[in-house]
Amino acid sequence: MKIFLDTASLKEIREAATLGVVDGITTNPSLLAKETGDPEAILVEICKTIDGPISGEVVATDAEGMVKEGRHLASLHKNIVVKVPCIAEGLKATKVLAAEGKRVNMTLIFSASQALLAAKAGARYVSPFVGRLDDISAPGMELVADIIQIFDHYDFDCEVLAASLRGPMHVVEAAKMGADIGTMPMSVFTQLLKHPLTDSGLKRFLEDWEKVKAQVAAKTQRQGS
Ligand code: G3P
Repeated sequence: MKIFLDTASLKEIREAATLGVVDGITTNPSLLAKETGDPEAILVEICKTIDGPISGEVVATDAEGMVKEGRHLASLHKNIVVKVPCIAEGLKATKVLAAEGKRVNMTLIFSASQALLAAKAGARYVSPFVGRLDDISAPGMELVADIIQIFDHYDFDCEVLAASLRGPMHVVEAAKMGADIGTMPMSVFTQLLKHPLTDSGLKRFLEDWEKVKAQVAAKTQRQGS
């Protein structure tokens, strides 16, 4: 499964990039609103930091406006993927943008039927929002499973991008289901790696090694005297 970070923070993206396992970035207007500076400049800088798909979202709500914004976003950098909300106007815009060869990430997907329509319109990615469904007591992860099951029957050139992942188990579940991509905030990404037994195990290995070194040094000293 490809790992995307769901953030517009260059600090976080630069830090995560050093680990070499981040494949792409998703942003949205809320995430960009948290940052200071020109959102377009931030998107371009993100593209220069991570050489993978970088989603930038349109804010128009009519198809014509979405297409115009989408073309502009795509012109900023080759890595930009145009994020479009899953509404009727979004489907129309996706059809046009996809026909021009622009990659669309259809976002705010909360049902399998929405994902099916998005794929049919030519979206390159569909983003089911797992956590936000969980928030309203609906099983978000089941939506990911349903979409994967549907897409398995057909030949859509569309990847399942599990979004709104709120914890490491969401990521693991998405991977077990075979989601193509999981996007997550930095806090969740960090938790993927951490394990207390790794830390305590490493501490013990290093302490034991220090003992070995001390014993070897003592032996060498005895032999020399
Ligand atoms: O990628 C979608 C994401 O930004 C939404 O996450 O945690 O705000 O539901 P969240």
